[in-house]
Amino acid sequence: MLTNTISANVTYFGDYNGQKIDKLSLSNGNNVTVSALSFGATLYEIISPDKQGKLSNIVLNYPNAADYLQNPFYVSMAIGRTGGRIKNAELELNHKTYKLEANEGTTTLHGGPHGFNTHIWDSQIIDEAGIPAIQFHRLQRHSEDQFPGDIDVTITYRLTEDNTVKIELAATALNEDTVFNPTYHTYFNLGDSDTILDHELMVDADTHLAFDANKLPTGEFIDVDNSPFDFRKPTSLGKAIEAMQNTKEKGFDDIFKINETNQGQGIAVLSDPNSGRSVTINSDRNGLVVFTANSFTHDHMNLTKTNGLGMPYEGVALEAQNLPDATRFNDFGDIVLPKGDTVAHEIDYHITF
Ligand code: GLA
Repeated sequence: MLTNTISANVTYFGDYNGQKIDKLSLSNGNNVTVSALSFGATLYEIISPDKQGKLSNIVLNYPNAADYLQNPFYVSMAIGRTGGRIKNAELELNHKTYKLEANEGTTTLHGGPHGFNTHIWDSQIIDEAGIPAIQFHRLQRHSEDQFPGDIDVTITYRLTEDNTVKIELAATALNEDTVFNPTYHTYFNLGDSDTILDHELMVDADTHLAFDANKLPTGEFIDVDNSPFDFRKPTSLGKAIEAMQNTKEKGFDDIFKINETNQGQGIAVLSDPNSGRSVTINSDRNGLVVFTANSFTHDHMNLTKTNGLGMPYEGVALEAQNLPDATRFNDFGDIVLPKGDTVAHEIDYHITF
């Protein structure tokens, strides 16, 4: 019989607006630990050995719950109902237009001002045939975020014996047709350096999305050929970011369309040659946002890694999701969740060291 080495632990993390925040953790026999906060269902840390066995946290985080909402960067938080930008805060669905709340000029970004990341979730350790998992649950109501209908949302974290962190985001549309395109805004930094400039990134994408001035998709796909966006082979992030210095963004804040030929061999692989750590991301969705934290500042960013400061390129957010604002375009994929239906999406991070 296989021995289960996965163990679970719950500790008090802190208070937010007078409410208690828990930190829930899973560990395996290889010294890998994943922890999540009931605040925002946030991915708080993934502790992993490096090639020498030294343990470090490989995702960006803050010491206090209140720090998470001090800036617009969604540090490693759960994002929903929809990741990315919705034009004019107007959701198109069933030939109707639903007015949402804007939180970036006239745009709704990452579920709007009352999205998944802004709430404290019910949390518990569950038992799945003798193996513990972390589970978050809440009802996201139309009256909170103006998206159509109420949805019942469950987020489950699992850790495997072979060092894969699996995050499942499931929703049931309770009383109306709605949309569901959640993601995790996970910023990785796999090494001891303050930036990811020494990391290499592979993304299985032949194209990325064209944007207008508000970073809204125009519907056009741009070939990555002969451009800094070509990550089809492992590519130095430092060199790619260098090649973007003549752009306004001075780095990447872009949406890649994952190739349809991808069959679970990793939509992206991030590696750090210095520490020997690598993360392979799997997801069944058709998009990946790559944000190299170009606009991180010293202000309002009490990041643990850099002792209370933030700095450009401190991490790279890799956000597996369906292409954003998908109901506006015919070829962006289906994010509609019909009334009464349940859908589950999984994002996997397989860690090697
Ligand atoms: C995503 C977006 C960025 C930015 C970050 C959070 O990566 O594409 O433009 O909004 O989220 O700040």
